[in-house]
Amino acid sequence: MNQPKRYLVTSALPYANGLKHIGHLAGAYIPADIYVRYLRAQKRDVVFVCGSDEHGTAIPIQAMKEGTTPQAIIDKYHPIIEQNFKDLGISFNIYHRTSAPIHHTTAQEFFTVLNDKGDLEIKESEQYYDEETKTFLADRFIKGTCPNCGNDGAYGDQCEKCGKSLSPDELINPVSTLSGKTPIKKATKHWYLPLNKHEEFLREWILKEHKDDWRANVVGQCKSWIDGGLQPRAVTRDLDWGVKVPLQEANGKVLYVWFDAPIGYISATKQWALDNDKDWKPYWQSSDTQLIHFIGKDNIVFHAIIFPAMLKLHGNILPSFVTSNEFMNLEGDKMSTSRGWSIEMDEYINDWIKQPNGGESMADVLRYYLTAIAPETKDSEFTWKGFQDANNNELVSIFGNYVNRTFVLMHKLCGGKVPAFHNNLIDEVDKELIESIQNSKIKIQNCLEEFKFRDAQFEVIDLARKANQYMQKKEPWIVAKSLIENPENQKLIDNCLHLCLQLTANLAILINPFLPFTAKKMLYMMKVVDKMLDWQNAGSVKLLSVGYSLREPQLLFRKIETEEINKQLEKLKQKSIANNQQPIEKKMEEAKQPEITNLKSEIVFDDFAKIDLRVGTITAAEKVEKADKLLKLTVNLGFETRTIVSGIALHFKPEDIVGKQVTVVCNLAPRKMRGIESNGMILMAEDKNGKLHFINSNNKIDEGSTVS
Ligand code: 2FM
Ligand code: ZN
Repeated sequence: MNQPKRYLVTSALPYANGLKHIGHLAGAYIPADIYVRYLRAQKRDVVFVCGSDEHGTAIPIQAMKEGTTPQAIIDKYHPIIEQNFKDLGISFNIYHRTSAPIHHTTAQEFFTVLNDKGDLEIKESEQYYDEETKTFLADRFIKGTCPNCGNDGAYGDQCEKCGKSLSPDELINPVSTLSGKTPIKKATKHWYLPLNKHEEFLREWILKEHKDDWRANVVGQCKSWIDGGLQPRAVTRDLDWGVKVPLQEANGKVLYVWFDAPIGYISATKQWALDNDKDWKPYWQSSDTQLIHFIGKDNIVFHAIIFPAMLKLHGNILPSFVTSNEFMNLEGDKMSTSRGWSIEMDEYINDWIKQPNGGESMADVLRYYLTAIAPETKDSEFTWKGFQDANNNELVSIFGNYVNRTFVLMHKLCGGKVPAFHNNLIDEVDKELIESIQNSKIKIQNCLEEFKFRDAQFEVIDLARKANQYMQKKEPWIVAKSLIENPENQKLIDNCLHLCLQLTANLAILINPFLPFTAKKMLYMMKVVDKMLDWQNAGSVKLLSVGYSLREPQLLFRKIETEEINKQLEKLKQKSIANNQQPIEKKMEEAKQPEITNLKSEIVFDDFAKIDLRVGTITAAEKVEKADKLLKLTVNLGFETRTIVSGIALHFKPEDIVGKQVTVVCNLAPRKMRGIESNGMILMAEDKNGKLHFINSNNKIDEGSTVS
């Protein structure tokens, strides 16, 4: 494909009906921000839009809960969410709102164009009506008994107890939540988008054209919708909160929220253009624009089927990519604000960033961990222990440690200035490092272009890991001891630290899309301007000039103590209890220890997909004191090294298994055995004679490779 002339990147517009949690952040905002920051560093023309979705029944329902008006709700949550995104470094060009007049007129104009062309159909149907409040009832305003599980608090669109999607007609004993009365049926007319007429185009466009370049979860969901037969979708509602339908005969009706919300991307672009003296049209009308949507899994159908059908009818460009993640669970259960099982962005910011020992770097720690465990292809799990490990073992021990050592040594051994590089002394180890920098750049770039953010970030840390190894091999602090006898050795120190500094500059460029606050701090330490972060500079080892004096180092990340994460676990437990949930211990215990019977019951694929199986290599093994059966293993998983306690001591001698490749369940909750924390489990097969065998491949495989 030719390089597009411009990019329009969108992140799903969150409902301004409450705080948003870190699962939302991980799904549609951090990946989009990484991508956009990368495009900007590539000097590409990109506009990144988002904003509050302020319509639909979600808002009046929250207003009822809080005993206030819908307007008060959106005015309360819009600024909080906007600020939360800012604090976490999400760099929208505009964070707009769908209550803005420009959005109302844009959505109405869109409807009018489609209606005038005859692209919409009008149908009359019977709907529930509350005689007391004189209103037609949206599905969410009707409650009744679920025909599936008997829950008497099921909503007209879904039973939240058993999860079944419902229509109001299926509810037993429906009542209006507005008046508590039984509603009557009354005829009403609505405008429909006849998706059935566009089935052929959608099948061709999604299932053929994009079958290979869109993620499997997006194509898969679309396929099941299309194969199930597309139906006309109502694009209007009887509601008094939303964008008014621009027709006399549609008095009291508004556009359905899923009709107006995606148009919010267009109105946000228009507002951005007005604010910046730009033309919005090419971003929505030129075929040389790439439109890319980052969304949550439950928004796929709206962005990949319905909105594209609307865009096509209206004469706009279609999205080139719709990228959606799977779900991120929290400590063994689905994240949910209403059930108190969540970490809100606002909460994280208060607990970690706005603390005396916090600061912007803690925003980067969250960005890092959420990307490291991004559910790009399958559901993943946020655990506070994992968060602590990612920070302490990767950001502090690998990345931060490398940068800090480089600066400290440069001040100690090279007078605080970038030392010269003596070409005649270059050796194989130096050459290998230079090659690694260039290879990393290419790998990261390729991953980013393919929306593989998790892998891309892994490559940056891997480069820092290689840099640490380089320094360890060169040991400039040892060489320094020989200077009195051999002053010429200063040149070896200079070469090492020269390269280490150039590599630090490269790390700043490469980490910038992921951890922008860290990159900024590194620029400050190197006394260089933002321009150095241009992507084209990556791969070069001539970024810092010889003789240039650099600042004293600042620690990039701080260690996270176990007490801090215990506090968070306790907080989660309290929130969960306050919301009448099962206590955390029970929940976590269940997550840890599935029931063991002779023949396990059938599971669905999603259950299997929750297990993160990786290839690892045992790098050390020792007996556990006073435990005949246990071995303490050190396992290299490529992206990190783990301690795993395994009950195999009666079967294997420690010295016989060092170097063995094994399959590791690496997202098993940590467990203490004989005072040692075990982080994962090694897969073994037991034959009929009771002999244990490692599950591994005949060929050597890279550590960290996934097994599925
Ligand atoms: O699911 C949601 O939170 C919706 N408010 C997303 C809307 S995305 C777009 F269409 F605006
Ligand atoms: Zn139910």
